[in-house]
Amino acid sequence: MFSVGIVGMGSYVPENVITNLDLEKMVDTNDQWITSRTGIRKRHIAPKDMPVSELCYRAGLRALENAQIAPEEVDLIIVATMTPDYAFPATACIVADRLGAKKAAAFDLEAACTGFIFAVATASQFVATGMYKTVLVIGGETMSKILNWEDRSTCILFGDGAGAAVLQPVEKGFGFLSFELGSDGSGGKLLSQPAGGSKCPASLETVEKNLHTLQMQGRDVYKFAVRNMVDVSVNVLEKAGLGKDDVDLFIPHQANIRIIDAAVKRLGISPDKVIMNLDKYGNMSAASIPVALDESFKEGRIAEGDRIVMVGFGAGLTWGACVLKWTKVGLKA
Ligand code: ACO
Repeated sequence: MFSVGIVGMGSYVPENVITNLDLEKMVDTNDQWITSRTGIRKRHIAPKDMPVSELCYRAGLRALENAQIAPEEVDLIIVATMTPDYAFPATACIVADRLGAKKAAAFDLEAACTGFIFAVATASQFVATGMYKTVLVIGGETMSKILNWEDRSTCILFGDGAGAAVLQPVEKGFGFLSFELGSDGSGGKLLSQPAGGSKCPASLETVEKNLHTLQMQGRDVYKFAVRNMVDVSVNVLEKAGLGKDDVDLFIPHQANIRIIDAAVKRLGISPDKVIMNLDKYGNMSAASIPVALDESFKEGRIAEGDRIVMVGFGAGLTWGACVLKWTKVGLKA
């Protein structure tokens, strides 16, 4: 089995920004409520005519350039998203075509906000076994397109963006040291987009009832998130033979500052090792973790040999974490 690591990173967020003050003009909310309850101050929102494939393409291209790898060399592209361009064809196929990744197999993976963790875990298996050498993993979302912009309890939380990583074999002892993934379908109703699938196909009635938009029971998701982030982080460190003091960087899913603070406190990880960018982007679902990883690297916060824990949770319910020992092979900051 090969060791598998990240040899290139890239990200993209749309230019247009909606601040909390802008939201005050749209729904009955205020900056103070949003900031104190969530930590979010603004979010980037894609234009109406920009699908998620465009965000993923731009992030993917940047990651390949960063790794100095040509699109033709990519063996597989996995796009993690809950806001695909279409139910089918897969967004990954559209991205592969845009990139000119002619030999790449491509598929989408849906694990909501845990999507990037599920996708790197999946991609690693292909590289570890030697089936593929180069896999491009992209977490991308246009959450703005599935929000009910009249629902103040959800529309203030999310943003759009994409982050990408190129995975290849790396020197033994580096790269991904452990993974843990989990799911519990009994909690599916806590966070869902009820209509538009085969259970409740699109109709005039479903549109009138706003059933194609994200519905969430926030408090229950909150409790689930704190509990699971702690448990899965402890487990994944144990699998890697590490303790909390060995963590150089902790990159949690960026949903809510209070969730992150509570989980970090329980874990006993020093706050200066925790990456937080949700104030700028809101919750970008599957894009949150790779965008935060890319920014951390480009800001010089990651050095060779650093041990990074990435942990996510989301609809499904799903959760997952990994420990990554950073290698700088092929990367330019
Ligand atoms: N502005 C002002 N008031 C608001 C707003 C708003 N934007 N939204 C809700 N309120 C009101 C509510 O109506 C309620 O009023 P009431 O007491 O008169 O009934 C009050 O504020 C409190 O509402 P709660 O929902 O109890 O507020 P809470 O402190 O739980 O915060 C939040 C809500 C931020 C959504 C929190 O529950 C949370 O972060 N949950 C987790 C969400 C999450 O992580 N989701 C993403 C999962 S990832 C994925 O897969 C997509």
